[in-house]
Amino acid sequence: MSDSERSAGPPQASSHPPEGSAGVPAGRGADALAIDVKGLSKSFNGRKVVDNVDLQVRTGTIVGFLGPNGSGKTTSMRMLCGLLTPDGGEGRCLGLDFRRQQLELKRQVGYMTQKFGLYEDLSIRENLEFVARLFELEDRARVVDEALERLGLKTREKQLAGSLSGGWKQRLALAACLLHTPKLLLLDEPTAGVDPKARREFWDQIKQLAGEGITVLVSTHYMDEAERCDELVYIAYGKVLAHGTQEELIEQVKGAKNLEDVFVELIGQAKDNFDA
Ligand SMILES: Nc1ncnc2c1ncn2[C@@H]1O[C@H](COP(=O)(O)OP(=O)(O)O)[C@@H](O)[C@H]1O
Ligand SMILES: [Mg+2]
Repeated sequence: MSDSERSAGPPQASSHPPEGSAGVPAGRGADALAIDVKGLSKSFNGRKVVDNVDLQVRTGTIVGFLGPNGSGKTTSMRMLCGLLTPDGGEGRCLGLDFRRQQLELKRQVGYMTQKFGLYEDLSIRENLEFVARLFELEDRARVVDEALERLGLKTREKQLAGSLSGGWKQRLALAACLLHTPKLLLLDEPTAGVDPKARREFWDQIKQLAGEGITVLVSTHYMDEAERCDELVYIAYGKVLAHGTQEELIEQVKGAKNLEDVFVELIGQAKDNFDA
């Protein structure tokens, strides 16, 4: 493996460049967008659950995906990483046509599912080894060791996944979706039901990854997490209601003092418009 490939692996904390030195490539047009899709749509049983969604996410940024349950967040993410075929929409993820280059895309995207998707009756290490084999990674023992180290899982590597608390399960799930050194992370409610300390540690990891140039789209119901994102996308009834930085959104939404106000106001308006 070459040095440049090696550097994509989980590095030691001390080797990280200072914050802000990595990230968005200097104004190279399409390369600066990790996600650039238009008109994303999907219906289930004749009902549109993702309705003409346009989404642009700059490389190396953390974008929060906010919206009530059933608004189409998971469905959108599954289409973006090539797991679900859209009915409509065109565009690119990581420079790849997200509809026609699904296989290549899957190799470069890390998707953390909303529900814990690993094997409860395998240990932490066994789960990671299994995922490493799925991705046909070379030098698997080293890759798994580095992931254990990076996520602070080493001391528990023999523990069965089923016996872990929510926070540890989530760490393991993050380690698993980082194994193949993806450039784009799609994290679907990764911290639901996780205690505040574990949530904070998780976000420290996410910030560090973004600092290394990895792009993150993360759905959450927690407003303190939304505040940690560079930009927010609000979605309801399968439609994007607003997209901007925290400051822009608070400015745009009348009377809003924080992101929770923005959420309540936008979702309220959407309810009036689409529920009628
Ligand atoms: N495979 C499926 N078959 C039928 N309906 C689905 C399927 N997946 C999701 N849905 C429906 O699509 C809507 C959006 O779901 P989802 O994308 O999971 O929303 P969110 O992640 O925002 O909670 C919901 O009404 C859900 O019941
Ligand atoms: Mg969901």
